[in-house]
Amino acid sequence: MSVSCFRPDVLAGRVAFVTGGSSGINKAIARRYLEHGASVFIVARDQARLDAAIGELAAAVPEGAARVGGYSADVRDLAAVTAAAEAGAARFGRYDMVVAGAAGNFLGAAEKLSSNAFGAVVDIDLKGTFHTFRACHAHLAPRARLIAISAPQAAMPMAFQAPACAAKAGVEMLVKSLAVEWGGLEGVRANAISPGLVAGTYGAEIFCKVAGEQALVAPQPVPRLATLEEVADVAVWLASPLTDYVTGQVIAIDGGLTLASALGGSFAAAAGPALQAAARRP
Ligand code: COA
Repeated sequence: MSVSCFRPDVLAGRVAFVTGGSSGINKAIARRYLEHGASVFIVARDQARLDAAIGELAAAVPEGAARVGGYSADVRDLAAVTAAAEAGAARFGRYDMVVAGAAGNFLGAAEKLSSNAFGAVVDIDLKGTFHTFRACHAHLAPRARLIAISAPQAAMPMAFQAPACAAKAGVEMLVKSLAVEWGGLEGVRANAISPGLVAGTYGAEIFCKVAGEQALVAPQPVPRLATLEEVADVAVWLASPLTDYVTGQVIAIDGGLTLASALGGSFAAAAGPALQAAARRP
């Protein structure tokens, strides 16, 4: 495993349910959980990609075959996600961590989007997150950790992504609502991770193809893409005993992307060197 600042057994004996687990950030989280001792049950739509990811994850850790399982389901379908949650619970007993990461997004002018196009993104991102937590609720371990994967779009309006902006804003309020409703006596902790541009993901690929990586990261205070491991380590932290007192929060790991506002970011990118030189003039 790559370097980790967590004890390798920090999640020993825990079980995670991870939607969207056949690729990108969610697969990286599943792997990081496995590397720290957990078992994982991943959910994805495409059976072939799901099977490939199960094989890859199982081969990556000792006793992987016994610690990795999965189920093909579309998170838009509550009955299918419920069947997945039941299958994973039948195999592993209960869920200590539930990661709602399945997402869909595309670039499209708002005035041209059909209702179905807008609905597809909202149904995957927002309703899919609700379905995931709803389906797992009956199988949650005491003090279970719910983690939704949000995005900077929740806080930062972006052109040509109205459905994703609206859906991810909803995801963040859903997490806060569940932190309140299922906290207290039930003991659930619910948080969101908001990753910026992450190398090796479909999202970064579509944005970089259109706008170019350098231009995209230039306005960020940390002007580079994140690695999958950096984001996955936030999910380990949110599953660890370190965060028992953290709930209803959105943890941004975005290189400061959400600090680089449309005006501030483009201004800094255009005038950065000149401004810095002027500001530093004795
Ligand atoms: N621009 C405009 N409309 C689009 C579109 C695009 N690029 N892609 C899909 N749509 C519309 C479709 O036209 C359809 O609307 P219609 O019935 O009015 O024609 C609606 O969205 C549903 O499309 P469909 O292809 O049936 O949906 P799907 O359920 O197979 O997949 C996505 C929808 C969003 C998941 C698809 O874009 C996808 O597979 N994306 C790749 C995975 C991804 O987004 N990962 C997460 C990255 S953050």
